[in-house]
Amino acid sequence: MWGIDEKIQMAGEIIANAKHAVVFTGAGVSAESGVPTFRGKDGLWSRYDPEEVASIAGFRRNPDAFWNFSKELLLKKKAHPNPAHYGIAELEKMGIVKAVITQNVDMLHQRAGSRVVYELHGSMEMVDCLDCGKTYRWDDIEEILQRDENVRCSCGSPYLKPRVVLFGEQLPQNVLASAIEESRKCDVFIVVGSSLVVYPAANLPIYAKKSGARLIIVNTERTHADGIFDVVIHGKAGEVMPKIVEVVRGLRH
Ligand code: APR
Ligand code: ZN
Repeated sequence: MWGIDEKIQMAGEIIANAKHAVVFTGAGVSAESGVPTFRGKDGLWSRYDPEEVASIAGFRRNPDAFWNFSKELLLKKKAHPNPAHYGIAELEKMGIVKAVITQNVDMLHQRAGSRVVYELHGSMEMVDCLDCGKTYRWDDIEEILQRDENVRCSCGSPYLKPRVVLFGEQLPQNVLASAIEESRKCDVFIVVGSSLVVYPAANLPIYAKKSGARLIIVNTERTHADGIFDVVIHGKAGEVMPKIVEVVRGLRH
């Protein structure tokens, strides 16, 4: 049975030889940045009902419930990229990772320097008023959230909705198409911090596998899909990813 150091070495060797690597991330890659995950121990869904706080029907019924939930998920001041985000950005700078596909809406990959980022579930960057169409930047809204005030548009509407995909909404089709294309053409597919239970995102590792790619997963807990991965590393992304990058750096010199 391989120990974690041998697995990190194996993953590093596979990635160092990659021609077109793709990284696929979930909430776990941001956990060490202080952003809570959804599932697993004390995940958000053990404290909030996703139907109430993260579905489009729930948002229309009670937008304040969504913003209360978002406060806990995304008050950006405390969330900064962690070594996992920086490690992934470095693999892109080395010309190995060609794209990051993320389910996260926290924009931390971009803030760590990743340039090609497909946000399957959108991001909090822009917020639109569903009544008058006015658009706000996240920073404007965050100040209101920091002051613990209700989020209202200048027109008085409470229906200020970030461009994130809520349950019951379609994923941005162009982003999904690019993510599927990347998953099909990569030769190495690296999953970092996802329970792989939300579709269609969770299909992406299957597309990569079917196209002959080598699969690596870095996740603190087992997932139902672990069996299709060539290398399974149960560890913290912020600790494991920098070690993998160190192996790659050593092999690429
Ligand atoms: N390092 C690596 N993995 C971690 C860490 C960490 N520090 N902390 C937690 N994890 C793992 C957990 O074990 C879990 O398997 O990250 C995974 C996070 O899984 P989820 O919370 O289900 O997040 P995600 O897979 O991104 O969820 C997908 O579900 O609710 C929707 O839209 C939401 O984008 C989200 C989607
Ligand atoms: Zn308005």
